[in-house]
Amino acid sequence: MNKDWKEHYQYFGREKTPPSATLQKALNLFAQEKLPLKEPLAIDLGCGTGIDTSALLMNGWSVLAIDQEQRALQQLANIIPPSRKEALTTKCSTFESLTRLPACSLVNASFSLPFCRPGQFDDFWSLIVNCLLPNGRFAGHLFGINDSWSDNPNMSFHEIHQIKTMFSGFELEVMKEINKPGKTVSGKTKHWHVFHIIAKKNALTNN
Ligand SMILES: C[S@@+](CC[C@H](N)C(=O)[O-])C[C@H]1O[C@@H](n2cnc3c(N)ncnc32)[C@H](O)[C@@H]1O
Repeated sequence: MNKDWKEHYQYFGREKTPPSATLQKALNLFAQEKLPLKEPLAIDLGCGTGIDTSALLMNGWSVLAIDQEQRALQQLANIIPPSRKEALTTKCSTFESLTRLPACSLVNASFSLPFCRPGQFDDFWSLIVNCLLPNGRFAGHLFGINDSWSDNPNMSFHEIHQIKTMFSGFELEVMKEINKPGKTVSGKTKHWHVFHIIAKKNALTNN
């Protein structure tokens, strides 16, 4: 396993961390509407140790949690109460090797999509857009070109005009750009250029 992910999982195993703000806000937005289904499906992409997955399950969602690291999925399985285990499906896979995703009401991708290889990003993004039901939401993050890691050829970075195109079939409910120095979970200094996004897919129209 990638050494950085090991450190990342150790940190999230140790520290009590709340779910991502984008997910919490998306859940609030759903709560203001009638939930689309009795137990709607969310896909948590790059779920890591499962803080967001766990929050979704505890809020009455069923979840397909996907990550390339088996160890993260095991750590996730350990924190889910038995009463919610049936609502969870996990899949150990890279984003790049996924060819289909089930229809769902929410795609959550907290700090994970930038790790998709750039050559496969557009196909993977189409998969995400197509699996979302009308009125479904995307919640998550993309990285901008000023990020310290933007010289990594295996990661994907976006300019704001590209992001607007990606979400052309959506209403952008939150689009917050953070472009400032900060730290990683392991305490290393880095420049963060992150777009925090919540977007609602347009309903089907007859015209
Ligand atoms: C920064 S962590 C975020 C974890 C979690 N979403 C959170 O917010 O705590 C990124 C996660 O994405 C997963 N990941 C990175 N690249 C991936 C890829 N190409 N395919 C699938 N998962 C990937 C990593 O294994 C890691 O668990």
